[in-house]
Parts: sequence; C-alpha cells; structure tokens
Amino acid sequence: MKRRSWAEPYKIKMVEPLKMLSKKEREKAIDEAGYNTFLLRSEDVYIDLLTDSGTSAMSDRQWAGLMLGDEAYAGSRNFYHLEETVQTIYGYKHLVPTHQGRAAEHMISKILIKQGDYVPGNMYFTTTKLHQEMAGAKFVDVIIDEAHDPNSEYPFKGDIDLNKLQALIDKVGADKIPYVAMATTVNMAGGQPISLNNLKAVRELTQKYGIDIVHDMTRVAENAYMIQQKEPGYQDKTVAEIVKEINSLTDHATMSAKKDALVNIGGFLATNDQRVFEEARNMVVVYEGLHTYGGLAGRDMEAMAIGIKESVMDEHQKARVGQVQYLGNLLLKQGIPVVKPIGTHGVFLDAKAFYPHLTQDEFPAQTLAAELYIDSGVRAMERGVVSAGRNKETGKHNYPKLELVRLTIPRRVYTQAHMDVVAESVIDVYENAKNARGLKMIYEPKYLRFFQARFEKL
Ligand code: F0G
Repeated sequence: MKRRSWAEPYKIKMVEPLKMLSKKEREKAIDEAGYNTFLLRSEDVYIDLLTDSGTSAMSDRQWAGLMLGDEAYAGSRNFYHLEETVQTIYGYKHLVPTHQGRAAEHMISKILIKQGDYVPGNMYFTTTKLHQEMAGAKFVDVIIDEAHDPNSEYPFKGDIDLNKLQALIDKVGADKIPYVAMATTVNMAGGQPISLNNLKAVRELTQKYGIDIVHDMTRVAENAYMIQQKEPGYQDKTVAEIVKEINSLTDHATMSAKKDALVNIGGFLATNDQRVFEEARNMVVVYEGLHTYGGLAGRDMEAMAIGIKESVMDEHQKARVGQVQYLGNLLLKQGIPVVKPIGTHGVFLDAKAFYPHLTQDEFPAQTLAAELYIDSGVRAMERGVVSAGRNKETGKHNYPKLELVRLTIPRRVYTQAHMDVVAESVIDVYENAKNARGLKMIYEPKYLRFFQARFEKL
C-alpha cells in the first residue's frame, strides 16, 4: 500500500485573523500580566495553547444546531436530545446538565462524600480535588508510579496501582471510601490514557468492597482512541464502542463538555444510580438552574448533543490526536525534554529539565510559560508547583514531581504550519534556557491560585 500523510477530515469555512505583537510589546504584556499567562489578554496572543477547554472549533452542523435552540425555561427539546445522546452514545442512564465540569464535580462530591472520607484517584485534577476537599474528603493519589516519571514510555500511564488502592482500603476501611475518582485521560500526567484491562481490575476490586467509581469523562473519546491504537485486543473496535465499554465499568460520570464534546461551554453529571440522580436534580436548581437546562441555553445543549456524536468518530480522533502527536514528535526529534509518551490533548514540556538551575521555589514551569510567550506569542499553561497549591495542614507548597508546561491543542483550530511555528519557538527557548531567571510570587489567591497569582522576575 502507498503511504499517505494523515489530514484533517474537514475543510475550513471561516477564518479568524490573528495579530502578532512585537517582542517589546509582548515583554510589556507579560509583565503587566504578572508573568501569569492566564492574565494575558487573548488579543495579545498569537497561537493560544493555554487550554483545549472551550476553545475548539464547532462544525457547521453544530452552528446550525444553535439555530434550533428551544429557549423554554422548562422541558426544552434540546435537553431531551442531549439526554438521549448521553444514553445512547455514552450509556449512562440519567443526565443532569451543568454549565461546565466543575459544577458536576461540586454536586457529586457533596452527594457522595462524608466528612473524614478518603477519595483515591488516578492523579488529581485541580478543580476535582478541591471539590472533594471542600466536601470533607482527603484525596489520595493511587496512580501507577510511572505516571510521575516524565521519561517512562509506559503506554497507559493513567492506570491505577491496585496495590496502592488495596493498601488504602486496608488502612482506612472501605466504608471511608465513597468512590474511586477515575479520569480518562489523566490531564496532569500529560494527557495519559488508562487501559481497559486496568479499569476492569479496578471495577472488580471496588465491587468486592461496594465502592463506586466516579468517572471524569472529560476526554474519554481521546482515551478510547489510545486504547484502540495501543491496547491488545481493541484494534478492530471503534472509538464509539470503546467509549461505551469504558463507561459501562463505572457508576457516575462528570463531564466538562468543553473538551471532547467540542463545545465552547457545557457539562453534565451522569449516573446510573436513581438516588444520586434525585439528589443531583435537587441540587442543580440551587446552583445551576432547572434540571432540564442546568445553567445552559437550549442552543448550548443542542451543540453539545451534536458535538458528542462527532467526538466519537474514528476519523475525528485520528486527526485530533494525530496533530498532538505531530507536534510532540517534532520536539522529540530535537531532543526537547517532554513528557513521554506524547498524550492526547497536548504536549507537556518538562520544565525541571529545561531549567536545572532553578529550584521549584523559583517556579520553573511558570518561568518557561512566560519565556515562550515572550519568544513567539505562543501561550501555554503552567502545570507544576503553582497549580499544585499548598498543603492544607502545613501551609507549605505542594511540590509535585512533575513540573510541566502544557502546550494544549484546541480541536480543529490550528494548522500543521502553526504547529511548526510552535516547535521552532520551543526549540529557541530551550537553546536559551540557561539565561532564564526564575520568578517570585507577589500575589496569591486562596483557591486555585494558578488562575490569578502574580509574579515578578527574580
Ligand atoms: N476534569 C478534567 C480532567 C479537566 O481537564 C477539567 C478542566 C475539569 C475536570 C473541569 O472542567 O473546566 O469545565 O469546569 N480542565 C481545563 C484545562 C480547565 O485547561 O485542563 P471545567
């Protein structure tokens, strides 16, 4: 067979012009933003790889769906379309829409957690963990050790270490563990997938003790694609079939539809448990809105229903993950220290390896994100000590093993040429790494500090 390059399964109908500031203007902009890329104006950014959250390009089908919005307060037909989609594509019985993922995390944490509980998970995510803690639980990381090693090439670094999980059950007792928080894919580990083999074993163990599984399904279709590519026995299954199999091994799910599901806003809580459903339906009216809109417009739910169907198409994931792998491979070829293997939603730069001369107290990942912006106007995100926050008991920084900068690729937005520019800039910043000075934090908010913290150059 002749070789053919991969290409996007769509063509471009509308473009959004980009602006490029001069280097001097970028230095001024990042200084005014307190060296925090979250505080930059998006207008001042050339290629925006801050996040893949809510930044995807919708399809013409989704835009057409917006016009079918039924903006009734109660019982919008778009809700029923979304509900049916969640049932048929994802396989969960009950749906409570929310404005985004963290609202669903808030509800499930409050419903299932009692003060003094423990929630084991395959690494933490910032908002997920905070909601667990605010509901009274202690989060315990039970991901396999390989996940904390940026150089381990293990293909399923999202897997749960069954020995760590068993040890926690033995130590605190199953009645203190309301659920296992299982994410597909693991964002903070570098967008790393969990294997079905592992998930089946986790299901078996949790069932033995009557412990639920709450599935953070934010990037489940990307995870399914990796299973199709890498896990023995799944090569002939479709992404859609694998998504359903993953979900069938879990009890409840929280979704940030701003990722996989290709919308700019939206999320939901899904569950197979009637009691949890009823409680969530009660709660949603307090925090989000009526249970048939949950903080969304009818049109948002329509776009989400269509986006969910597009997200499980094999050719979509092939191009989506393919683009991320393309950027990752450009950097790997140049010997740039990145998390291996390349994950599904972004390429994660290893800031500790960029800046061996900086300690974690000098915020190497925060520094690297700022340097990259100054070099080329590419905006990335810190995923290191700033994101990890402080220990609730000691008040000291949490020092995560991984000190990363995430180049997150929005879906269907940028071209291969954009990826080339990003790679060139990362290589330049790496070549000048030894000149970088670290940062000092001069303003620190109490919750999720990475969003609004401000820094000064040392
Ligand atoms: N879970 C995961 C794995 C996420 O990546 C996110 C968001 C959430 C939950 C929360 O969802 O933002 O809709 O409330 N991640 C974004 C990111 C913010 O940039 O990685 P949300």
